Amino acid sequence: MKQVRTAIVGMGIGRPNGKAIAKNPRGRVVALCDLVEDRMKDFAKELPEPPKLYTDYKAMCRDKEIDAVMVGTPNQWHVPIALEAVRRGKHVLITKPLADALAPARRLVAAQEKAGVVGMMSLSMRFSGSTLYLGQMARRGDFGELYYARARSIRRSGIPDWNLGFIEKGGGAFRDMGVHVLDSAWWILGMPRPVSVTGVAGAKFGPKGRGYWDFRQPPKSFWRKYGSDDYAGGFIRFESGAGLQCESFWASHQAPEHQIELFGTQAGARYSPLTLYRTVDGAPHDITVNLPKGADPWDLIAGHFIDCILDGKPCDAPLRHGLIVQEMMEAMLRSAEAGREVRLDK
Ligand SMILES: NC(=O)c1ccc[n+]([C@@H]2O[C@H](COP(=O)([O-])OP(=O)(O)OC[C@H]3O[C@@H](n4cnc5c(N)ncnc54)[C@H](O)[C@@H]3O)[C@@H](O)[C@H]2O)c1
Repeated sequence: MKQVRTAIVGMGIGRPNGKAIAKNPRGRVVALCDLVEDRMKDFAKELPEPPKLYTDYKAMCRDKEIDAVMVGTPNQWHVPIALEAVRRGKHVLITKPLADALAPARRLVAAQEKAGVVGMMSLSMRFSGSTLYLGQMARRGDFGELYYARARSIRRSGIPDWNLGFIEKGGGAFRDMGVHVLDSAWWILGMPRPVSVTGVAGAKFGPKGRGYWDFRQPPKSFWRKYGSDDYAGGFIRFESGAGLQCESFWASHQAPEHQIELFGTQAGARYSPLTLYRTVDGAPHDITVNLPKGADPWDLIAGHFIDCILDGKPCDAPLRHGLIVQEMMEAMLRSAEAGREVRLDK
Protein backbone atom coordinates (compact mmCIF):
# COMPACT_ATOMS: atom_id res chain seq x y z
CA MET A 1 0.00 0.00 0.00
CA LYS A 2 1.49 3.33 -1.06
CA GLN A 3 -1.43 5.57 -0.23
CA VAL A 4 -4.04 5.24 2.50
CA ARG A 5 -7.52 5.21 0.93
CA THR A 6 -9.63 6.87 3.60
CA ALA A 7 -13.35 7.34 4.23
CA ILE A 8 -14.59 10.28 6.31
CA VAL A 9 -17.74 9.83 8.42
CA GLY A 10 -19.49 13.00 9.66
CA MET A 11 -19.23 16.24 7.72
CA GLY A 12 -18.54 18.57 10.68
CA ILE A 13 -15.14 17.90 12.24
CA GLY A 14 -14.62 15.32 9.50
CA ARG A 15 -13.89 18.18 7.12
CA PRO A 16 -10.58 19.51 8.57
CA ASN A 17 -9.48 15.91 9.18
CA GLY A 18 -10.44 14.93 5.63
CA LYS A 19 -8.80 17.96 4.04
CA ALA A 20 -5.53 17.21 5.82
CA ILE A 21 -5.60 13.56 4.72
CA ALA A 22 -6.38 14.53 1.11
CA LYS A 23 -3.54 17.07 1.14
CA ASN A 24 -0.97 14.52 2.32
CA PRO A 25 0.90 12.93 -0.63
CA ARG A 26 0.41 9.50 0.99
CA GLY A 27 -3.29 10.01 1.79
CA ARG A 28 -6.49 9.95 -0.27
CA VAL A 29 -10.10 10.60 0.62
CA VAL A 30 -12.03 8.11 -1.47
CA ALA A 31 -15.40 8.08 0.33
CA LEU A 32 -17.64 10.23 2.51
CA CYS A 33 -20.46 9.11 4.78
CA ASP A 34 -23.15 11.24 6.40
CA LEU A 35 -26.88 11.07 7.00
CA VAL A 36 -27.24 14.36 5.12
CA GLU A 37 -26.32 14.02 1.45
CA ASP A 38 -26.01 17.77 0.79
CA ARG A 39 -23.29 18.07 3.45
CA MET A 40 -21.26 15.41 1.63
CA LYS A 41 -21.77 17.02 -1.79
CA ASP A 42 -20.67 20.34 -0.37
CA PHE A 43 -17.46 18.90 1.13
CA ALA A 44 -16.76 16.81 -1.98
CA LYS A 45 -16.23 20.08 -3.90
CA GLU A 46 -13.16 20.77 -1.74
CA LEU A 47 -11.52 17.42 -2.45
CA PRO A 48 -9.05 16.72 -5.26
CA GLU A 49 -10.95 13.65 -6.51
CA PRO A 50 -14.68 12.81 -6.46
CA PRO A 51 -15.39 10.51 -3.49
CA LYS A 52 -18.04 7.80 -3.26
CA LEU A 53 -20.95 8.93 -1.08
CA TYR A 54 -22.54 6.68 1.53
CA THR A 55 -25.44 7.34 3.90
CA ASP A 56 -25.06 3.94 5.60
CA TYR A 57 -21.79 3.38 7.46
CA LYS A 58 -22.24 -0.40 7.41
CA ALA A 59 -22.37 -0.43 3.61
CA MET A 60 -19.33 1.87 3.59
CA CYS A 61 -17.38 -0.51 5.83
CA ARG A 62 -18.03 -3.37 3.36
CA ASP A 63 -16.21 -1.40 0.63
CA LYS A 64 -12.92 -3.21 -0.02
CA GLU A 65 -11.41 -0.12 -1.63
CA ILE A 66 -11.29 1.65 1.75
CA ASP A 67 -8.25 1.10 4.02
CA ALA A 68 -9.05 3.53 6.83
CA VAL A 69 -12.02 5.32 8.39
CA MET A 70 -12.04 8.70 10.12
CA VAL A 71 -14.98 8.91 12.56
CA GLY A 72 -16.28 12.45 13.12
CA THR A 73 -19.90 11.86 14.13
CA PRO A 74 -21.54 12.82 17.47
CA ASN A 75 -20.08 10.91 20.46
CA GLN A 76 -22.85 8.30 20.55
CA TRP A 77 -21.82 6.99 17.10
CA HIS A 78 -18.03 6.81 17.54
CA VAL A 79 -17.96 3.23 18.82
CA PRO A 80 -20.65 1.62 16.62
CA ILE A 81 -18.98 3.00 13.47
CA ALA A 82 -15.38 2.34 14.55
CA LEU A 83 -16.27 -1.21 15.70
CA GLU A 84 -17.78 -1.99 12.32
CA ALA A 85 -14.64 -0.59 10.63
CA VAL A 86 -12.08 -2.50 12.72
CA ARG A 87 -14.06 -5.74 12.34
CA ARG A 88 -13.68 -5.24 8.59
CA GLY A 89 -9.90 -4.79 9.02
CA LYS A 90 -9.84 -1.02 8.54
CA HIS A 91 -7.63 1.42 10.44
CA VAL A 92 -9.51 4.07 12.43
CA LEU A 93 -8.93 7.70 13.36
CA ILE A 94 -11.52 8.88 15.89
CA THR A 95 -12.33 12.39 17.06
CA LYS A 96 -12.51 13.11 20.77
CA PRO A 97 -13.95 11.76 23.05
CA LEU A 98 -13.31 8.10 22.30
CA ALA A 99 -16.88 7.19 23.27
CA ASP A 100 -20.06 8.29 25.02
CA ALA A 101 -19.51 5.95 27.99
CA LEU A 102 -16.90 3.62 29.47
CA ALA A 103 -18.19 0.17 28.46
CA PRO A 104 -18.30 0.87 24.69
CA ALA A 105 -14.86 2.53 24.89
CA ARG A 106 -13.43 -0.66 26.42
CA ARG A 107 -15.17 -2.85 23.82
CA LEU A 108 -13.72 -0.83 20.98
CA VAL A 109 -10.13 -0.78 22.25
CA ALA A 110 -10.22 -4.55 22.83
CA ALA A 111 -11.55 -5.12 19.29
CA GLN A 112 -9.06 -2.73 17.68
CA GLU A 113 -6.04 -4.20 19.45
CA LYS A 114 -7.23 -7.75 18.61
CA ALA A 115 -7.72 -6.80 14.95
CA GLY A 116 -4.16 -5.45 14.82
CA VAL A 117 -5.20 -2.32 12.93
CA VAL A 118 -4.01 1.21 13.71
CA GLY A 119 -6.37 3.06 16.08
CA MET A 120 -5.60 6.70 16.71
CA MET A 121 -7.33 9.60 18.47
CA SER A 122 -7.68 12.83 16.47
CA LEU A 123 -6.77 15.36 19.18
CA SER A 124 -6.39 18.91 17.91
CA MET A 125 -5.22 20.27 21.28
CA ARG A 126 -2.70 17.46 21.97
CA PHE A 127 -1.18 18.12 18.53
CA SER A 128 -1.16 21.94 18.95
CA GLY A 129 2.17 23.75 18.98
CA SER A 130 1.85 24.84 22.63
CA THR A 131 1.00 21.36 23.97
CA LEU A 132 3.81 19.74 21.98
CA TYR A 133 6.26 22.40 23.19
CA LEU A 134 5.31 21.94 26.86
CA GLY A 135 5.39 18.15 26.48
CA GLN A 136 8.87 18.30 25.01
CA MET A 137 10.06 20.51 27.90
CA ALA A 138 8.51 18.10 30.41
CA ARG A 139 10.12 15.03 28.79
CA ARG A 140 13.51 16.79 28.86
CA GLY A 141 13.09 17.46 32.60
CA ASP A 142 12.99 21.26 32.27
CA PHE A 143 10.23 21.54 34.88
CA GLY A 144 11.92 19.20 37.36
CA GLU A 145 9.18 17.13 38.95
CA LEU A 146 5.71 18.12 37.69
CA TYR A 147 3.64 17.60 40.82
CA TYR A 148 0.45 19.53 40.15
CA ALA A 149 -1.59 20.88 37.24
CA ARG A 150 -4.79 22.79 36.64
CA ALA A 151 -6.72 22.43 33.41
CA ARG A 152 -9.93 24.19 32.47
CA SER A 153 -12.15 25.05 29.58
CA ILE A 154 -14.64 27.83 30.24
CA ARG A 155 -17.25 29.28 27.91
CA ARG A 156 -19.61 32.13 28.63
CA SER A 157 -22.44 30.95 26.42
CA GLY A 158 -21.27 28.05 24.31
CA ILE A 159 -23.56 25.02 24.50
CA PRO A 160 -23.49 23.53 20.98
CA ASP A 161 -26.93 23.85 19.38
CA TRP A 162 -26.29 22.28 15.98
CA ASN A 163 -26.61 18.63 16.88
CA LEU A 164 -28.73 16.93 19.53
CA GLY A 165 -25.90 14.47 20.16
CA PHE A 166 -24.03 17.15 22.08
CA ILE A 167 -26.72 17.58 24.75
CA GLU A 168 -28.22 14.10 24.90
CA LYS A 169 -26.94 11.33 27.17
CA GLY A 170 -23.31 10.61 26.29
CA GLY A 171 -22.68 14.23 25.29
CA GLY A 172 -22.06 17.08 27.73
CA ALA A 173 -19.46 19.74 28.47
CA PHE A 174 -16.87 17.47 30.06
CA ARG A 175 -16.78 14.94 27.22
CA ASP A 176 -16.80 17.79 24.69
CA MET A 177 -14.32 20.37 26.03
CA GLY A 178 -13.02 19.00 29.33
CA VAL A 179 -11.62 16.10 27.33
CA HIS A 180 -9.22 18.41 25.44
CA VAL A 181 -7.62 20.04 28.49
CA LEU A 182 -7.68 16.80 30.48
CA ASP A 183 -5.99 14.82 27.71
CA SER A 184 -3.33 17.47 27.04
CA ALA A 185 -2.53 18.07 30.72
CA TRP A 186 -2.33 14.31 31.39
CA TRP A 187 -0.06 13.86 28.35
CA ILE A 188 2.28 16.72 29.41
CA LEU A 189 2.44 15.23 32.94
CA GLY A 190 3.81 12.05 31.34
CA MET A 191 0.56 10.05 31.31
CA PRO A 192 0.63 8.97 34.98
CA ARG A 193 -1.76 6.25 36.14
CA PRO A 194 -4.94 7.73 37.70
CA VAL A 195 -5.89 6.23 41.07
CA SER A 196 -8.86 8.28 42.23
CA VAL A 197 -11.25 10.98 41.06
CA THR A 198 -13.67 13.21 42.90
CA GLY A 199 -15.96 15.68 41.18
CA VAL A 200 -19.17 17.59 40.89
CA ALA A 201 -21.24 18.04 37.73
CA GLY A 202 -24.64 19.22 36.64
CA ALA A 203 -26.67 21.20 34.13
CA LYS A 204 -27.56 24.71 35.26
CA PHE A 205 -28.16 26.42 31.90
CA GLY A 206 -28.93 23.97 29.07
CA PRO A 207 -32.15 22.40 30.41
CA LYS A 208 -33.54 25.92 30.95
CA GLY A 209 -32.88 26.99 27.36
CA ARG A 210 -29.99 29.26 28.40
CA GLY A 211 -26.26 29.32 27.69
CA TYR A 212 -26.40 28.18 24.08
CA TRP A 213 -23.80 29.04 21.43
CA ASP A 214 -23.25 32.79 21.06
CA PHE A 215 -26.30 33.59 23.24
CA ARG A 216 -28.67 32.03 20.68
CA GLN A 217 -31.79 30.28 21.86
CA PRO A 218 -32.66 27.07 20.06
CA PRO A 219 -36.32 25.94 19.98
CA LYS A 220 -37.74 24.39 23.13
CA SER A 221 -38.14 21.07 21.31
CA PHE A 222 -34.30 20.98 21.18
CA TRP A 223 -33.37 21.90 24.73
CA ARG A 224 -36.13 19.82 26.34
CA LYS A 225 -34.05 16.80 25.32
CA TYR A 226 -31.14 17.90 27.54
CA GLY A 227 -29.65 14.79 29.16
CA SER A 228 -26.02 15.57 29.99
CA ASP A 229 -23.83 17.93 32.06
CA ASP A 230 -23.15 21.56 31.15
CA TYR A 231 -20.39 21.81 33.75
CA ALA A 232 -18.15 19.38 35.60
CA GLY A 233 -15.10 19.84 37.73
CA GLY A 234 -13.00 17.93 40.16
CA PHE A 235 -9.70 16.45 41.13
CA ILE A 236 -7.68 13.52 39.83
CA ARG A 237 -4.99 11.89 41.94
CA PHE A 238 -2.22 9.92 40.20
CA GLU A 239 -0.11 6.99 41.33
CA SER A 240 2.97 9.24 41.02
CA GLY A 241 1.54 11.49 43.75
CA ALA A 242 0.76 14.27 41.25
CA GLY A 243 -2.66 15.94 41.21
CA LEU A 244 -4.75 17.48 38.44
CA GLN A 245 -7.64 19.85 38.95
CA CYS A 246 -9.82 19.80 35.85
CA GLU A 247 -12.94 21.78 34.96
CA SER A 248 -15.19 22.36 32.00
CA PHE A 249 -18.06 24.81 31.61
CA TRP A 250 -20.13 25.13 28.45
CA ALA A 251 -21.83 28.19 29.95
CA SER A 252 -21.01 30.33 32.98
CA HIS A 253 -20.86 33.82 34.39
CA GLN A 254 -17.10 33.85 33.92
CA ALA A 255 -14.54 35.03 31.39
CA PRO A 256 -13.94 32.44 28.65
CA GLU A 257 -10.69 30.52 29.04
CA HIS A 258 -8.94 27.43 27.67
CA GLN A 259 -6.05 26.88 30.01
CA ILE A 260 -3.48 24.51 31.48
CA GLU A 261 -1.18 25.51 34.35
CA LEU A 262 1.79 23.36 35.30
CA PHE A 263 3.55 23.35 38.65
CA GLY A 264 7.08 21.88 38.66
CA THR A 265 9.95 21.87 41.15
CA GLN A 266 12.28 23.70 38.69
CA ALA A 267 9.81 25.70 36.60
CA GLY A 268 6.13 26.20 35.86
CA ALA A 269 4.15 27.12 32.78
CA ARG A 270 0.86 28.31 31.42
CA TYR A 271 -0.63 27.19 28.10
CA SER A 272 -2.26 30.44 27.02
CA PRO A 273 -0.59 32.81 26.47
CA LEU A 274 2.34 30.39 26.46
CA THR A 275 4.45 31.47 29.46
CA LEU A 276 7.25 29.88 31.48
CA TYR A 277 7.97 30.69 35.11
CA ARG A 278 11.26 30.01 36.91
CA THR A 279 13.55 31.60 39.47
CA VAL A 280 17.05 32.74 38.53
CA ASP A 281 19.48 34.20 41.14
CA GLY A 282 16.61 34.75 43.54
CA ALA A 283 14.49 36.65 41.02
CA PRO A 284 11.33 35.47 39.27
CA HIS A 285 11.69 35.08 35.53
CA ASP A 286 8.43 35.15 33.58
CA ILE A 287 9.14 34.27 29.96
CA THR A 288 6.64 34.72 27.15
CA VAL A 289 7.21 32.15 24.44
CA ASN A 290 6.46 33.34 20.93
CA LEU A 291 6.13 30.07 19.08
CA PRO A 292 6.73 30.40 15.35
CA LYS A 293 3.69 29.34 13.34
CA GLY A 294 4.37 25.63 13.11
CA ALA A 295 2.56 22.84 11.36
CA ASP A 296 -1.22 22.80 11.49
CA PRO A 297 -2.48 20.24 14.08
CA TRP A 298 -4.78 18.59 11.51
CA ASP A 299 -1.81 18.07 9.17
CA LEU A 300 0.22 16.57 12.03
CA ILE A 301 -2.63 14.24 12.97
CA ALA A 302 -3.19 13.10 9.37
CA GLY A 303 0.55 12.69 8.75
CA HIS A 304 1.08 10.63 11.90
CA PHE A 305 -1.95 8.42 11.20
CA ILE A 306 -0.61 7.70 7.72
CA ASP A 307 2.94 7.05 9.02
CA CYS A 308 1.57 4.56 11.56
CA ILE A 309 -0.30 2.67 8.81
CA LEU A 310 2.31 2.73 6.05
CA ASP A 311 5.56 2.68 8.05
CA GLY A 312 4.42 0.87 11.19
CA LYS A 313 5.42 3.84 13.36
CA PRO A 314 4.31 3.44 17.01
CA CYS A 315 1.18 5.55 17.55
CA ASP A 316 1.64 8.66 19.76
CA ALA A 317 -2.10 8.96 20.43
CA PRO A 318 -3.50 5.42 20.42
CA LEU A 319 -7.14 4.67 21.27
CA ARG A 320 -5.83 3.28 24.57
CA HIS A 321 -4.94 6.85 25.59
CA GLY A 322 -8.50 7.82 24.71
CA LEU A 323 -9.68 4.99 26.95
CA ILE A 324 -7.66 6.14 29.98
CA VAL A 325 -8.94 9.70 29.50
CA GLN A 326 -12.48 8.29 29.22
CA GLU A 327 -11.94 6.37 32.49
CA MET A 328 -11.02 9.64 34.23
CA MET A 329 -13.96 11.53 32.71
CA GLU A 330 -16.53 8.88 33.52
CA ALA A 331 -15.14 8.58 37.06
CA MET A 332 -15.57 12.35 37.49
CA LEU A 333 -19.20 12.16 36.35
CA ARG A 334 -19.86 9.02 38.43
CA SER A 335 -18.33 10.68 41.47
CA ALA A 336 -20.64 13.67 40.99
CA GLU A 337 -23.66 11.38 40.84
CA ALA A 338 -22.63 9.27 43.82
CA GLY A 339 -21.40 12.20 45.92
CA ARG A 340 -18.12 10.49 46.79
CA GLU A 341 -14.63 9.71 45.52
CA VAL A 342 -14.28 7.00 42.85
CA ARG A 343 -11.21 4.72 42.99
CA LEU A 344 -9.62 3.63 39.74
CA ASP A 345 -6.88 1.46 41.20
CA LYS A 346 -9.09 -1.44 42.25
N1 LIG B 1 -11.28 20.05 17.84
C1 LIG B 1 -11.88 18.87 17.76
O1 LIG B 1 -11.22 17.87 17.79
C2 LIG B 1 -13.37 18.82 17.60
C3 LIG B 1 -14.09 19.99 17.30
C4 LIG B 1 -15.48 19.88 17.13
C5 LIG B 1 -16.13 18.66 17.27
N2 LIG B 1 -15.40 17.55 17.60
C6 LIG B 1 -16.08 16.24 17.78
O2 LIG B 1 -16.66 15.85 16.55
C7 LIG B 1 -17.90 15.17 16.76
C8 LIG B 1 -18.96 15.81 15.90
O3 LIG B 1 -19.09 17.19 16.21
P1 LIG B 1 -19.40 18.25 15.05
O4 LIG B 1 -19.30 19.60 15.65
O5 LIG B 1 -18.58 17.94 13.87
O6 LIG B 1 -20.94 17.90 14.76
P2 LIG B 1 -21.76 18.17 13.44
O7 LIG B 1 -23.19 18.05 13.81
O8 LIG B 1 -21.31 19.42 12.76
O9 LIG B 1 -21.36 16.97 12.45
C9 LIG B 1 -21.70 15.65 12.72
C10 LIG B 1 -22.15 15.00 11.41
O10 LIG B 1 -22.30 13.61 11.64
C11 LIG B 1 -23.43 13.16 10.90
N3 LIG B 1 -23.92 11.92 11.47
C12 LIG B 1 -24.59 11.74 12.65
N4 LIG B 1 -24.84 10.45 12.86
C13 LIG B 1 -24.34 9.77 11.79
C14 LIG B 1 -24.29 8.40 11.42
N5 LIG B 1 -24.85 7.45 12.19
N6 LIG B 1 -23.69 8.05 10.25
C15 LIG B 1 -23.13 9.01 9.46
N7 LIG B 1 -23.14 10.32 9.76
C16 LIG B 1 -23.74 10.70 10.92
C17 LIG B 1 -24.41 14.30 10.99
O11 LIG B 1 -25.37 14.26 9.93
C18 LIG B 1 -23.49 15.51 10.89
O12 LIG B 1 -23.35 15.97 9.56
C19 LIG B 1 -18.17 15.21 18.26
O13 LIG B 1 -17.84 13.97 18.83
C20 LIG B 1 -17.22 16.29 18.78
O14 LIG B 1 -16.77 16.02 20.09
C21 LIG B 1 -14.04 17.60 17.73
